[in-house]
Amino acid sequence: MAKEYMNYIGGKWVKSGTGRTYENTNPANGDILGVFPRSDAKDVKKAIDAAEKAFKTWRLVPAPRRAEILFRAGELLIKRKEEYSREMTQEMGKVLTETRGDVQEAIDLTYYAAGEGRRLLGETTPSELDNKWAMSVRMPLGIIGAITPWNFPMAIPSWKIMPALVAGNTIVFKPARYTPKSALNMVKTLEDAGLPGGVLNLIFGHAAEVGDSMVADKRVGLISFTGSNSVGTDIAKRCPDTFKRVSLEMGGKNAIIVLEDGNLDLALEGIIWSAFGTTGQRCTACSRLIVQKPVASKLTKMVVDRAKSLKLGDGLKAGTEMGPVINEDQLKKIHEYVETGKREGGRLLCGGERATEGALKKGSFYKPTVFGGIKPDMTIAQEEIFGPVLAIIEVSSLEEAIEVNNNTDFGLSSSVYTMDVNKAFVAMRDIYTGICYINSGTIGAEVHTPFGGTKGTGNGHREAGTTALDECTEWKTIFVDFSGKLQKAQGID
Ligand code: UN1
Repeated sequence: MAKEYMNYIGGKWVKSGTGRTYENTNPANGDILGVFPRSDAKDVKKAIDAAEKAFKTWRLVPAPRRAEILFRAGELLIKRKEEYSREMTQEMGKVLTETRGDVQEAIDLTYYAAGEGRRLLGETTPSELDNKWAMSVRMPLGIIGAITPWNFPMAIPSWKIMPALVAGNTIVFKPARYTPKSALNMVKTLEDAGLPGGVLNLIFGHAAEVGDSMVADKRVGLISFTGSNSVGTDIAKRCPDTFKRVSLEMGGKNAIIVLEDGNLDLALEGIIWSAFGTTGQRCTACSRLIVQKPVASKLTKMVVDRAKSLKLGDGLKAGTEMGPVINEDQLKKIHEYVETGKREGGRLLCGGERATEGALKKGSFYKPTVFGGIKPDMTIAQEEIFGPVLAIIEVSSLEEAIEVNNNTDFGLSSSVYTMDVNKAFVAMRDIYTGICYINSGTIGAEVHTPFGGTKGTGNGHREAGTTALDECTEWKTIFVDFSGKLQKAQGID
Protein backbone atom coordinates (compact mmCIF):
# COMPACT_ATOMS: atom_id res chain seq x y z
CA MET A 1 0.00 0.00 0.00
CA ALA A 2 1.35 3.40 -0.98
CA LYS A 3 1.79 5.85 1.87
CA GLU A 4 -0.90 8.49 2.32
CA TYR A 5 0.16 12.11 2.83
CA MET A 6 -1.77 15.11 4.12
CA ASN A 7 -2.24 18.84 3.66
CA TYR A 8 -0.52 21.20 6.11
CA ILE A 9 -2.84 23.85 7.53
CA GLY A 10 -2.29 26.03 10.59
CA GLY A 11 0.73 23.98 11.63
CA LYS A 12 -1.09 20.61 11.48
CA TRP A 13 -0.98 17.79 8.96
CA VAL A 14 -4.64 17.23 8.06
CA LYS A 15 -6.71 15.27 5.56
CA SER A 16 -8.68 17.07 2.91
CA GLY A 17 -12.34 17.59 3.78
CA THR A 18 -13.19 16.02 0.42
CA GLY A 19 -11.91 12.60 1.53
CA ARG A 20 -10.64 12.25 -2.02
CA THR A 21 -7.06 11.43 -2.98
CA TYR A 22 -4.90 10.95 -6.07
CA GLU A 23 -1.82 8.86 -6.81
CA ASN A 24 1.67 10.26 -7.34
CA THR A 25 3.43 8.13 -9.95
CA ASN A 26 6.93 7.67 -11.34
CA PRO A 27 7.07 8.68 -15.03
CA ALA A 28 10.03 6.34 -15.62
CA ASN A 29 8.09 3.17 -14.79
CA GLY A 30 4.55 3.93 -13.60
CA ASP A 31 5.24 2.95 -9.96
CA ILE A 32 2.89 4.50 -7.40
CA LEU A 33 4.96 6.60 -4.99
CA GLY A 34 2.30 7.88 -2.64
CA VAL A 35 -1.27 9.04 -2.25
CA PHE A 36 -2.04 12.75 -1.81
CA PRO A 37 -5.17 14.73 -0.94
CA ARG A 38 -7.34 15.99 -3.77
CA SER A 39 -8.42 19.16 -2.03
CA ASP A 40 -11.12 21.68 -2.84
CA ALA A 41 -12.20 25.25 -2.12
CA LYS A 42 -13.12 24.47 1.49
CA ASP A 43 -9.59 23.28 2.24
CA VAL A 44 -8.22 26.41 0.60
CA LYS A 45 -10.47 28.58 2.74
CA LYS A 46 -9.16 26.89 5.89
CA ALA A 47 -5.59 27.49 4.72
CA ILE A 48 -6.30 31.16 4.03
CA ASP A 49 -7.99 31.50 7.45
CA ALA A 50 -4.85 30.05 9.04
CA ALA A 51 -2.57 32.32 7.02
CA GLU A 52 -4.68 35.35 7.97
CA LYS A 53 -4.44 34.52 11.66
CA ALA A 54 -0.69 33.83 11.52
CA PHE A 55 0.00 37.07 9.68
CA LYS A 56 -1.05 39.09 12.72
CA THR A 57 1.96 37.84 14.69
CA TRP A 58 4.46 36.81 11.96
CA ARG A 59 4.63 40.31 10.50
CA LEU A 60 5.80 41.59 13.90
CA VAL A 61 8.62 39.07 14.33
CA PRO A 62 11.87 40.98 13.65
CA ALA A 63 13.14 40.14 10.20
CA PRO A 64 16.53 38.86 11.49
CA ARG A 65 14.59 36.38 13.70
CA ARG A 66 12.48 35.27 10.75
CA ALA A 67 15.70 34.81 8.80
CA GLU A 68 17.17 32.55 11.50
CA ILE A 69 14.46 30.02 10.70
CA LEU A 70 15.47 30.17 7.04
CA PHE A 71 19.14 29.68 7.88
CA ARG A 72 18.17 26.57 9.88
CA ALA A 73 16.02 25.35 6.98
CA GLY A 74 19.00 25.80 4.66
CA GLU A 75 21.15 23.65 6.95
CA LEU A 76 18.47 20.94 7.07
CA LEU A 77 18.11 20.98 3.29
CA ILE A 78 21.87 20.40 2.97
CA LYS A 79 21.58 17.37 5.28
CA ARG A 80 18.58 16.02 3.40
CA LYS A 81 19.74 16.90 -0.09
CA GLU A 82 20.42 13.37 -1.28
CA GLU A 83 17.16 11.93 0.00
CA TYR A 84 15.10 14.79 -1.42
CA SER A 85 16.91 14.65 -4.77
CA ARG A 86 16.19 10.93 -5.13
CA GLU A 87 12.53 11.44 -4.32
CA MET A 88 12.36 14.25 -6.83
CA THR A 89 13.84 12.10 -9.59
CA GLN A 90 11.29 9.42 -8.79
CA GLU A 91 8.32 11.73 -9.05
CA MET A 92 9.30 13.88 -12.02
CA GLY A 93 11.95 11.96 -13.93
CA LYS A 94 14.93 14.25 -14.39
CA VAL A 95 18.31 12.67 -13.74
CA LEU A 96 19.77 12.63 -10.24
CA THR A 97 22.55 15.13 -10.95
CA GLU A 98 19.85 17.59 -12.04
CA THR A 99 17.54 17.01 -9.08
CA ARG A 100 20.56 17.61 -6.85
CA GLY A 101 20.92 20.91 -8.68
CA ASP A 102 17.25 21.66 -8.05
CA VAL A 103 17.57 21.09 -4.30
CA GLN A 104 20.83 23.06 -4.34
CA GLU A 105 19.06 25.98 -6.00
CA ALA A 106 16.51 25.90 -3.16
CA ILE A 107 19.36 25.86 -0.62
CA ASP A 108 21.08 28.79 -2.33
CA LEU A 109 17.88 30.78 -2.48
CA THR A 110 17.06 30.00 1.16
CA TYR A 111 20.41 31.38 2.34
CA TYR A 112 20.16 34.32 -0.05
CA ALA A 113 16.70 35.24 1.24
CA ALA A 114 17.80 34.68 4.83
CA GLY A 115 20.55 37.27 4.28
CA GLU A 116 17.80 39.78 3.54
CA GLY A 117 16.68 39.45 7.15
CA ARG A 118 19.44 41.87 8.09
CA ARG A 119 18.91 44.11 5.08
CA LEU A 120 15.32 44.57 3.84
CA LEU A 121 16.64 47.92 2.78
CA GLY A 122 14.47 50.97 2.47
CA GLU A 123 15.34 54.57 1.66
CA THR A 124 15.91 57.62 3.81
CA THR A 125 15.83 60.88 1.91
CA PRO A 126 15.84 64.54 2.92
CA SER A 127 12.50 66.26 3.25
CA GLU A 128 11.99 69.51 1.35
CA LEU A 129 10.80 71.08 4.63
CA ASP A 130 12.61 72.08 7.83
CA ASN A 131 12.59 69.63 10.72
CA LYS A 132 10.92 66.88 8.78
CA TRP A 133 12.13 63.39 7.95
CA ALA A 134 11.19 61.19 4.97
CA MET A 135 11.78 57.48 4.61
CA SER A 136 10.37 54.51 2.70
CA VAL A 137 10.14 51.00 4.08
CA ARG A 138 9.02 47.69 2.64
CA MET A 139 5.98 46.12 4.26
CA PRO A 140 4.65 42.63 3.64
CA LEU A 141 1.69 42.25 1.31
CA GLY A 142 -0.08 39.87 3.68
CA ILE A 143 -1.19 36.51 2.35
CA ILE A 144 0.50 35.14 -0.73
CA GLY A 145 -0.75 32.37 -2.99
CA ALA A 146 2.11 30.43 -4.55
CA ILE A 147 1.20 28.21 -7.51
CA THR A 148 4.18 26.27 -8.82
CA PRO A 149 5.08 23.85 -11.65
CA TRP A 150 6.50 20.33 -11.64
CA ASN A 151 9.73 20.90 -13.57
CA PHE A 152 11.60 22.60 -10.69
CA PRO A 153 9.66 21.20 -7.75
CA MET A 154 11.83 22.72 -5.05
CA ALA A 155 13.77 25.54 -6.69
CA ILE A 156 10.78 27.45 -8.01
CA PRO A 157 8.73 27.21 -4.78
CA SER A 158 11.81 28.50 -2.93
CA TRP A 159 11.92 31.61 -5.19
CA LYS A 160 8.37 32.43 -4.14
CA ILE A 161 8.31 31.25 -0.54
CA MET A 162 11.65 32.21 1.03
CA PRO A 163 11.72 35.95 0.18
CA ALA A 164 8.02 36.20 1.09
CA LEU A 165 8.68 34.65 4.50
CA VAL A 166 11.61 36.85 5.38
CA ALA A 167 9.56 39.90 4.39
CA GLY A 168 6.84 38.89 6.88
CA ASN A 169 4.15 37.43 4.63
CA THR A 170 2.17 34.26 5.22
CA ILE A 171 1.57 31.79 2.43
CA VAL A 172 -0.80 29.30 0.89
CA PHE A 173 1.23 27.00 -1.32
CA LYS A 174 -0.34 24.93 -4.09
CA PRO A 175 2.32 22.79 -5.81
CA ALA A 176 1.86 21.03 -9.15
CA ARG A 177 -0.07 17.82 -8.76
CA TYR A 178 2.76 15.79 -10.31
CA THR A 179 5.41 16.72 -7.72
CA PRO A 180 3.70 16.77 -4.34
CA LYS A 181 6.44 14.97 -2.38
CA SER A 182 9.09 17.58 -3.16
CA ALA A 183 6.70 20.31 -2.02
CA LEU A 184 5.98 18.38 1.15
CA ASN A 185 9.72 17.91 1.76
CA MET A 186 10.27 21.63 1.54
CA VAL A 187 7.39 22.50 3.87
CA LYS A 188 8.42 19.79 6.35
CA THR A 189 11.93 21.25 6.39
CA LEU A 190 10.59 24.69 7.26
CA GLU A 191 8.38 23.16 9.95
CA ASP A 192 11.39 21.34 11.42
CA ALA A 193 13.37 24.57 11.29
CA GLY A 194 10.80 26.16 13.60
CA LEU A 195 8.44 28.05 11.31
CA PRO A 196 5.32 28.84 13.38
CA GLY A 197 2.04 27.15 12.41
CA GLY A 198 -0.12 28.94 9.86
CA VAL A 199 2.74 30.92 8.34
CA LEU A 200 3.10 28.44 5.48
CA ASN A 201 0.17 26.26 4.47
CA LEU A 202 0.29 23.51 1.88
CA ILE A 203 -2.69 22.37 -0.15
CA PHE A 204 -2.45 19.47 -2.58
CA GLY A 205 -4.77 18.87 -5.47
CA HIS A 206 -5.71 19.71 -9.02
CA ALA A 207 -5.26 23.22 -10.35
CA ALA A 208 -8.86 24.11 -11.12
CA GLU A 209 -10.20 22.69 -7.85
CA VAL A 210 -7.64 24.46 -5.64
CA GLY A 211 -6.06 27.33 -7.55
CA ASP A 212 -9.34 28.95 -8.55
CA SER A 213 -10.48 29.59 -5.02
CA MET A 214 -7.09 31.04 -4.10
CA VAL A 215 -7.40 33.47 -6.99
CA ALA A 216 -10.95 34.38 -6.03
CA ASP A 217 -10.31 35.07 -2.31
CA LYS A 218 -9.95 38.80 -1.62
CA ARG A 219 -7.67 38.19 1.36
CA VAL A 220 -4.86 36.87 -0.85
CA GLY A 221 -2.73 39.86 -1.83
CA LEU A 222 -0.62 38.23 -4.53
CA ILE A 223 -0.83 35.20 -6.75
CA SER A 224 2.68 34.23 -7.72
CA PHE A 225 2.42 31.75 -10.56
CA THR A 226 4.91 29.83 -12.65
CA GLY A 227 3.53 27.54 -15.31
CA SER A 228 1.93 27.46 -18.72
CA ASN A 229 0.96 30.52 -20.69
CA SER A 230 -2.69 29.50 -20.95
CA VAL A 231 -3.16 29.01 -17.19
CA GLY A 232 -1.18 32.18 -16.40
CA THR A 233 -3.27 34.21 -18.81
CA ASP A 234 -6.45 32.88 -17.26
CA ILE A 235 -5.25 33.77 -13.74
CA ALA A 236 -4.21 37.25 -14.86
CA LYS A 237 -7.66 37.90 -16.30
CA ARG A 238 -9.35 37.03 -13.01
CA CYS A 239 -7.06 38.85 -10.57
CA PRO A 240 -8.21 42.41 -11.34
CA ASP A 241 -11.68 41.49 -10.01
CA THR A 242 -10.20 41.43 -6.50
CA PHE A 243 -7.46 44.05 -7.15
CA LYS A 244 -4.97 41.34 -6.46
CA ARG A 245 -1.39 41.55 -7.58
CA VAL A 246 -0.31 38.82 -9.95
CA SER A 247 3.20 37.76 -10.84
CA LEU A 248 3.52 35.44 -13.82
CA GLU A 249 6.45 33.44 -15.14
CA MET A 250 5.37 31.46 -18.15
CA GLY A 251 7.75 29.80 -20.46
CA GLY A 252 9.90 30.61 -23.40
CA LYS A 253 11.02 29.84 -26.90
CA ASN A 254 14.69 30.26 -26.18
CA ALA A 255 17.37 30.20 -28.86
CA ILE A 256 21.08 29.61 -29.05
CA ILE A 257 22.74 31.65 -31.78
CA VAL A 258 25.99 30.23 -33.17
CA LEU A 259 27.95 32.64 -35.36
CA GLU A 260 30.50 31.52 -37.92
CA ASP A 261 33.42 32.45 -35.67
CA GLY A 262 31.95 30.63 -32.65
CA ASN A 263 33.72 27.72 -30.98
CA LEU A 264 31.63 24.82 -32.30
CA ASP A 265 32.81 22.23 -29.78
CA LEU A 266 31.90 24.55 -26.93
CA ALA A 267 28.58 25.42 -28.58
CA LEU A 268 27.75 21.74 -29.00
CA GLU A 269 28.00 21.15 -25.25
CA GLY A 270 25.77 24.14 -24.53
CA ILE A 271 23.21 23.12 -27.14
CA ILE A 272 22.89 19.50 -25.95
CA TRP A 273 22.69 20.54 -22.29
CA SER A 274 20.15 23.30 -22.94
CA ALA A 275 17.94 21.38 -25.40
CA PHE A 276 17.89 17.94 -23.78
CA GLY A 277 18.76 18.59 -20.12
CA THR A 278 15.61 18.16 -17.97
CA THR A 279 14.27 16.43 -21.12
CA GLY A 280 13.71 19.89 -22.60
CA GLN A 281 11.22 20.65 -19.83
CA ARG A 282 12.67 23.91 -18.59
CA CYS A 283 11.14 27.25 -19.37
CA THR A 284 14.73 28.23 -20.10
CA ALA A 285 15.34 25.22 -22.41
CA CYS A 286 16.79 25.87 -25.85
CA SER A 287 14.29 24.85 -28.51
CA ARG A 288 15.77 26.83 -31.43
CA LEU A 289 19.29 26.75 -32.77
CA ILE A 290 19.96 29.76 -34.97
CA VAL A 291 23.16 29.10 -36.88
CA GLN A 292 25.10 31.13 -39.41
CA LYS A 293 25.16 29.43 -42.80
CA PRO A 294 28.92 28.78 -43.25
CA VAL A 295 28.99 26.51 -40.16
CA ALA A 296 25.41 25.21 -40.35
CA SER A 297 25.91 21.78 -41.89
CA LYS A 298 28.94 20.97 -39.75
CA LEU A 299 27.22 21.98 -36.50
CA THR A 300 23.98 20.25 -37.48
CA LYS A 301 25.82 16.97 -37.95
CA MET A 302 27.59 17.36 -34.61
CA VAL A 303 24.28 18.04 -32.82
CA VAL A 304 22.44 15.15 -34.47
CA ASP A 305 25.24 12.67 -33.71
CA ARG A 306 25.26 13.66 -30.06
CA ALA A 307 21.46 13.73 -29.75
CA LYS A 308 21.28 10.19 -31.15
CA SER A 309 23.84 8.93 -28.65
CA LEU A 310 22.12 10.28 -25.50
CA LYS A 311 21.31 7.51 -23.05
CA LEU A 312 17.67 7.50 -21.97
CA GLY A 313 16.48 5.82 -18.81
CA ASP A 314 15.51 6.00 -15.18
CA GLY A 315 17.14 9.15 -13.77
CA LEU A 316 18.29 7.25 -10.68
CA LYS A 317 20.43 4.86 -12.76
CA ALA A 318 24.08 5.83 -13.18
CA GLY A 319 24.88 6.75 -16.77
CA THR A 320 21.38 7.97 -17.68
CA GLU A 321 21.63 11.25 -19.57
CA MET A 322 17.95 11.98 -20.21
CA GLY A 323 14.90 10.95 -18.20
CA PRO A 324 11.24 10.56 -19.23
CA VAL A 325 8.82 13.37 -19.98
CA ILE A 326 6.44 14.10 -17.13
CA ASN A 327 3.41 12.12 -18.32
CA GLU A 328 1.48 10.65 -21.23
CA ASP A 329 -0.42 13.85 -22.00
CA GLN A 330 2.80 15.78 -22.33
CA LEU A 331 4.28 13.05 -24.51
CA LYS A 332 1.27 13.22 -26.80
CA LYS A 333 1.55 16.99 -27.04
CA ILE A 334 5.25 16.77 -27.93
CA HIS A 335 4.52 14.21 -30.61
CA GLU A 336 1.77 16.38 -32.10
CA TYR A 337 4.30 19.22 -32.43
CA VAL A 338 6.68 16.85 -34.18
CA GLU A 339 3.93 15.86 -36.64
CA THR A 340 3.18 19.54 -37.24
CA GLY A 341 6.88 20.20 -37.84
CA LYS A 342 6.96 17.50 -40.52
CA ARG A 343 3.72 18.69 -42.11
CA GLU A 344 4.99 22.26 -42.34
CA GLY A 345 8.08 21.10 -44.22
CA GLY A 346 10.70 20.62 -41.49
CA ARG A 347 13.32 17.89 -42.07
CA LEU A 348 13.30 15.40 -39.20
CA LEU A 349 16.97 14.56 -38.61
CA CYS A 350 16.63 12.28 -35.58
CA GLY A 351 14.13 11.17 -32.96
CA GLY A 352 10.52 12.11 -33.62
CA GLU A 353 9.05 9.15 -31.79
CA ARG A 354 8.47 7.56 -28.45
CA ALA A 355 11.34 5.45 -27.09
CA THR A 356 10.20 1.93 -26.24
CA GLU A 357 13.36 -0.17 -26.15
CA GLY A 358 13.55 -2.53 -23.15
CA ALA A 359 12.53 -0.99 -19.84
CA LEU A 360 11.77 2.34 -21.53
CA LYS A 361 8.39 1.02 -22.62
CA LYS A 362 7.17 1.17 -19.01
CA GLY A 363 7.68 4.93 -18.87
CA SER A 364 6.91 8.06 -20.91
CA PHE A 365 10.16 8.41 -22.86
CA TYR A 366 10.60 10.43 -26.05
CA LYS A 367 13.69 10.35 -28.24
CA PRO A 368 15.85 13.47 -28.51
CA THR A 369 14.53 15.12 -31.66
CA VAL A 370 16.25 17.49 -34.08
CA PHE A 371 14.67 19.26 -37.06
CA GLY A 372 16.59 20.96 -39.88
CA GLY A 373 15.27 23.30 -42.57
CA ILE A 374 13.08 25.24 -40.17
CA LYS A 375 11.78 28.68 -41.12
CA PRO A 376 11.40 31.20 -38.27
CA ASP A 377 7.61 31.42 -38.59
CA MET A 378 6.87 27.67 -38.51
CA THR A 379 4.84 26.44 -35.55
CA ILE A 380 7.69 24.51 -33.93
CA ALA A 381 9.87 27.63 -34.14
CA GLN A 382 7.21 29.75 -32.44
CA GLU A 383 5.31 27.75 -29.82
CA GLU A 384 6.70 26.36 -26.59
CA ILE A 385 6.89 22.55 -26.86
CA PHE A 386 8.32 21.74 -23.41
CA GLY A 387 10.05 18.59 -24.56
CA PRO A 388 13.28 17.35 -26.18
CA VAL A 389 12.74 18.95 -29.59
CA LEU A 390 15.25 21.27 -31.25
CA ALA A 391 14.53 23.28 -34.42
CA ILE A 392 17.53 24.43 -36.46
CA ILE A 393 17.18 27.71 -38.37
CA GLU A 394 19.90 28.94 -40.72
CA VAL A 395 20.66 32.65 -41.06
CA SER A 396 23.11 34.85 -43.00
CA SER A 397 24.18 37.45 -40.44
CA LEU A 398 24.27 38.48 -36.80
CA GLU A 399 21.50 41.02 -37.49
CA GLU A 400 19.26 38.35 -38.99
CA ALA A 401 20.05 36.01 -36.08
CA ILE A 402 18.97 38.65 -33.56
CA GLU A 403 15.81 39.41 -35.52
CA VAL A 404 14.89 35.71 -35.59
CA ASN A 405 15.77 35.39 -31.91
CA ASN A 406 13.47 38.28 -30.97
CA ASN A 407 10.62 37.32 -33.26
CA THR A 408 8.52 35.11 -30.96
CA ASP A 409 5.81 35.81 -28.39
CA PHE A 410 8.25 34.93 -25.58
CA GLY A 411 11.41 36.50 -24.18
CA LEU A 412 13.00 34.48 -21.39
CA SER A 413 16.52 33.34 -22.21
CA SER A 414 18.98 33.53 -25.10
CA SER A 415 22.56 32.65 -25.91
CA VAL A 416 25.21 33.66 -28.41
CA TYR A 417 28.38 31.81 -29.31
CA THR A 418 31.03 34.08 -30.82
CA MET A 419 34.68 34.91 -30.18
CA ASP A 420 34.20 38.45 -31.50
CA VAL A 421 33.71 40.82 -28.58
CA ASN A 422 32.06 43.45 -30.78
CA LYS A 423 29.43 41.01 -31.99
CA ALA A 424 28.86 39.81 -28.43
CA PHE A 425 28.15 43.36 -27.28
CA VAL A 426 25.79 44.05 -30.20
CA ALA A 427 23.87 40.88 -29.22
CA MET A 428 23.85 41.82 -25.52
CA ARG A 429 22.38 45.20 -26.46
CA ASP A 430 19.82 44.12 -29.06
CA ILE A 431 18.52 40.80 -27.80
CA TYR A 432 15.18 41.33 -26.09
CA THR A 433 15.05 38.61 -23.43
CA GLY A 434 15.19 38.71 -19.64
CA ILE A 435 18.33 36.55 -19.56
CA CYS A 436 21.17 36.46 -22.09
CA TYR A 437 24.26 34.25 -22.09
CA ILE A 438 27.48 34.67 -24.05
CA ASN A 439 29.35 31.44 -24.84
CA SER A 440 27.12 29.37 -22.58
CA GLY A 441 23.73 27.69 -23.12
CA THR A 442 20.30 29.10 -22.22
CA ILE A 443 19.86 27.35 -18.86
CA GLY A 444 21.37 27.62 -15.41
CA ALA A 445 20.56 31.09 -14.10
CA GLU A 446 21.90 31.77 -10.58
CA VAL A 447 19.70 32.69 -7.61
CA HIS A 448 21.20 36.09 -6.84
CA THR A 449 20.28 37.40 -10.31
CA PRO A 450 16.79 38.54 -11.36
CA PHE A 451 14.92 35.76 -13.17
CA GLY A 452 12.11 36.33 -15.64
CA GLY A 453 11.39 37.44 -19.15
CA THR A 454 9.82 39.88 -21.56
CA LYS A 455 6.62 39.70 -23.64
CA GLY A 456 4.55 36.50 -23.21
CA THR A 457 7.03 35.06 -20.72
CA GLY A 458 5.69 37.16 -17.89
CA ASN A 459 4.07 40.36 -16.78
CA GLY A 460 7.08 42.40 -15.84
CA HIS A 461 8.09 40.79 -12.56
CA ARG A 462 11.46 39.22 -11.78
CA GLU A 463 11.96 36.57 -9.13
CA ALA A 464 15.14 35.89 -7.12
CA GLY A 465 18.09 38.29 -7.33
CA THR A 466 17.94 41.87 -6.09
CA THR A 467 14.31 41.94 -7.23
CA ALA A 468 13.23 39.02 -5.00
CA LEU A 469 11.34 41.20 -2.54
CA ASP A 470 9.53 43.32 -5.10
CA GLU A 471 6.61 40.98 -5.76
CA CYS A 472 5.86 40.25 -2.11
CA THR A 473 6.18 43.70 -0.54
CA GLU A 474 4.51 47.09 -0.74
CA TRP A 475 6.39 50.34 -0.22
CA LYS A 476 5.27 52.59 2.59
CA THR A 477 6.60 56.14 2.65
CA ILE A 478 6.68 57.70 6.08
CA PHE A 479 7.04 61.40 6.92
CA VAL A 480 7.87 62.52 10.42
CA ASP A 481 7.40 66.22 11.11
CA PHE A 482 9.18 67.39 14.25
CA SER A 483 8.76 71.13 13.65
CA GLY A 484 5.74 71.39 15.93
CA LYS A 485 3.74 73.32 13.32
CA LEU A 486 1.79 72.59 10.16
CA GLN A 487 4.19 72.71 7.21
CA LYS A 488 2.87 72.42 3.68
CA ALA A 489 4.84 70.78 0.91
CA GLN A 490 5.09 72.07 -2.66
CA GLY A 491 5.64 75.65 -1.45
CA ILE A 492 2.07 76.31 -0.34
CA ASP A 493 1.97 79.03 2.38
C1 UN1 B 1 12.56 26.82 -15.28
O1 UN1 B 1 13.01 26.45 -16.35
O2 UN1 B 1 11.34 26.75 -15.08
O3 UN1 B 1 17.92 28.94 -15.19
C2 UN1 B 1 13.44 27.33 -14.20
C3 UN1 B 1 17.61 27.75 -15.06
C4 UN1 B 1 17.23 27.25 -13.70
C5 UN1 B 1 15.79 27.56 -13.42
C6 UN1 B 1 14.87 27.10 -14.51
N1 UN1 B 1 18.05 27.87 -12.70
O4 UN1 B 1 17.62 26.98 -16.00
